[in-house]
Amino acid sequence: MRIATLTSGGDCPGLNAVIRGIVRTATAEYGSTVVGYQDGWVGLLEDRRTQLYDDESIDRILLRGGTILGTGRLHPNQFREGIDQVKANLEDAGIDALIPIGGEGTLKGAKWLSDNGIPVVGVPKTIDNDVNGTDYTFCFDTAVSVATDAIDRLHTTAESHNRVMIVEVMGRHVGWIALHAGMAGGAHYIVVPEHPFDINDICKRMERRFQMGEKYGIIVVAEGALPKEGTMDFDEGEEDQFGHKTFNGIGQVIGEEIKKRLGQDVRTTVLGHIQRGGTPTAFDRVLATRYGVHAARACHNGDFGKSVALRGEHIELVDLDVAVGKLKSVPEGRYRTAQALFG
Ligand code: F6P
Repeated sequence: MRIATLTSGGDCPGLNAVIRGIVRTATAEYGSTVVGYQDGWVGLLEDRRTQLYDDESIDRILLRGGTILGTGRLHPNQFREGIDQVKANLEDAGIDALIPIGGEGTLKGAKWLSDNGIPVVGVPKTIDNDVNGTDYTFCFDTAVSVATDAIDRLHTTAESHNRVMIVEVMGRHVGWIALHAGMAGGAHYIVVPEHPFDINDICKRMERRFQMGEKYGIIVVAEGALPKEGTMDFDEGEEDQFGHKTFNGIGQVIGEEIKKRLGQDVRTTVLGHIQRGGTPTAFDRVLATRYGVHAARACHNGDFGKSVALRGEHIELVDLDVAVGKLKSVPEGRYRTAQALFG
């Protein structure tokens, strides 16, 4: 069998571990060959591919962040228009199965190809952890570890200066990173996109902390968070050329409001792409490797139109329909649990 893989959307730690899992399994278990398309869907459209061998160099990529194949984004319309080209390229290259590794947008692309008769097995990736049908996407754990480490460090400097520290983390539509890193880092308030925030409540909690003799406060904010309607002005971002929402610095805006209302010294740290760089955690290395191994096996078993997924202890296959059906957001109950520790 000849399998092709590609990495698409934002990069993250663990992509190489998936590639390694695919190559080693396809080669050693089945005697198959694997090629990688470069720079995501664009590489598939432009037929830019490279052979991946089960050798020492593939073995060493387990620890490496980013993606050896490169990644990119493509507007869904451009992708749809290129379907005939994609089919022709896959046929010319003698590809029997395609494993796209990516987030919700990539898996939508995978479903589109599958609906058009291309044998596809998806692998769910995103630091945001918002892909439906899987307990965890790989690289989420690494992002949470990076953000937690940053929050740990901010505690000491915040306390020394009697400051409120705002930490803005990634999370376009969902607040999983904010929720987990905020809880792990002992944040005094967590703001997530699923629950529009009330600035009055944030200020009240911070004010109370200082009245009780506490010297500082830590607030973790997901980049996609929005205020409750009518509570404060905020200019929401626009869409970029790929149809993704851009952001207008909600962490900074919340910080300025706290400073204005409480007269408190406030600093804002935006963690940004630091959360996506570097080496994957042990958890992510294992999860990403398992995803790669199972995706390769699914191709050989003819289980197409599916995505690998972590369900409890096991790697299972879920229909791509399920994976892209909706975003996996933070449930009310999980946020309420975090709220118990606010203030
Ligand atoms: O989707 C993952 C993500 O990390 C989002 O949380 C973030 O908004 C986005 O990617 C940023 O991507 P880039 O700056 O690479 O376009």
